Amino acid sequence: MAEPSALQRESVVEWATQIDPTGDPLLAEDPYPYYKRIRETCPVLWNERFRYWMVMRYDDVFEVMRDPSMFSNAQMSVPAMTEPAGTRIPLQSDPPEHSRYRHILLPLFSPAVAQNLEPLTRGVAQRLLRDIGRAGSCEFIRDFAIPLPFEVILTWLGIPRDGWPMIMEAEDSGIRLHASDPQARQRSVALKEKVNAYFEEIILDRVNNGGPDDDVIAHLVSSQVDGRALTLNEMLRICMLLFAAGLHSTTSTVGNMMVHLAANPEYRDRLISEPDIIPSASEELMRYESIGVFTRLAVRDCVVGGQAVKQGDPLLVYLGSANRDGEVFADADEVVLDRDPNRHLNFGVGPHRCLGSHIARMELIVALEEIHRMIPKYRLMPDRPIVRHAGADRGTDELWLLT
Ligand code: HEM
Repeated sequence: MAEPSALQRESVVEWATQIDPTGDPLLAEDPYPYYKRIRETCPVLWNERFRYWMVMRYDDVFEVMRDPSMFSNAQMSVPAMTEPAGTRIPLQSDPPEHSRYRHILLPLFSPAVAQNLEPLTRGVAQRLLRDIGRAGSCEFIRDFAIPLPFEVILTWLGIPRDGWPMIMEAEDSGIRLHASDPQARQRSVALKEKVNAYFEEIILDRVNNGGPDDDVIAHLVSSQVDGRALTLNEMLRICMLLFAAGLHSTTSTVGNMMVHLAANPEYRDRLISEPDIIPSASEELMRYESIGVFTRLAVRDCVVGGQAVKQGDPLLVYLGSANRDGEVFADADEVVLDRDPNRHLNFGVGPHRCLGSHIARMELIVALEEIHRMIPKYRLMPDRPIVRHAGADRGTDELWLLT
């Protein structure tokens, strides 16, 4: 690639060091041209306004995520947010502590578990789509993308149905929490505290009184770490992570997928006529719109992508930028529904690689299969603009469809 001129480089640096990666409306609309400008001119860039490194190239993101001895997971965001129960387990720990907790959780995430959840997922998808079909239109995020993973993950966790409405309110407000609106943020934090207190009650009840033996809470109550039972606080911190990781990410991913399918009827028609390509199309749509930005802290002075980084500096890896890196993906800015190979980093890499990827992939494939079978004529509703956000998570707030 040709070196950018000094002028180009300076103007990009000047602009990008001051952007608000969560609140900038240009990024909300379409962040990829901006990611590309940064990636191709100053791929490891200090954001002066928020004081962290933006890591944009595939190879650099890969290296940072892969090496916990140099890059710690102790902090989940910039600025650091405190969770009501404490740091999330196992996401916010480093080896060897991380490995001990991850080991306990592995049986909950096997391909067989995902397979067992498939009938439930398909049943929920069919019920939601029947209602959407009858109504003739929907706001896809509210009517499908939020409730589908919600029902699957809360059932899998073992949360009784009477708690679902309050948790749904918290989830809905969290999913739309992207703008720097302090009131929305306060409301969402208050709701999260309520969810935390509710989960604590549920776990304590299980510890004291028993209950079903085939859900996540049952597994945690009977698990051991270092030869002892998990404490209530450890179980809570695990549940709060599973709740956050399992809902939001799938909602945003399926919402983003449908934005592109609805806006490009030729993609939609191909999934209808060639349903066998749905698994690869799902991977490609995830690559094309990757939701995540993840935080690491430099354990010591080091060099990332040729850039000197100081001990303690926060680094944010932009999976959305890495997955559009033209050095790795041919026609990176094109959707190639049957792309193969497709080494996207949407589920991360290294010791923290997404535990839930089998469950997430199953949910996404079931969703695409049922949508293209049950409401195949879906299209964008005229005069209802799509509302989207970028930032710590790339997602969709509103997507109105006619069916
Ligand atoms: C399309 C949906 C999903 C995407 C894109 C996604 C992405 C990711 C990524 C990139 C990470 C690594 C974070 C890091 O390195 O700091 C991660 C971790 C994790 N994810 Fe997912 N995820 C998804 C769905 C799920 C689901 C459905 C679950 C649970 C049922 C889940 C559970 C987890 C857990 C527990 C971790 C922490 C693993 C660890 O720290 O060892 N994820 N996810």
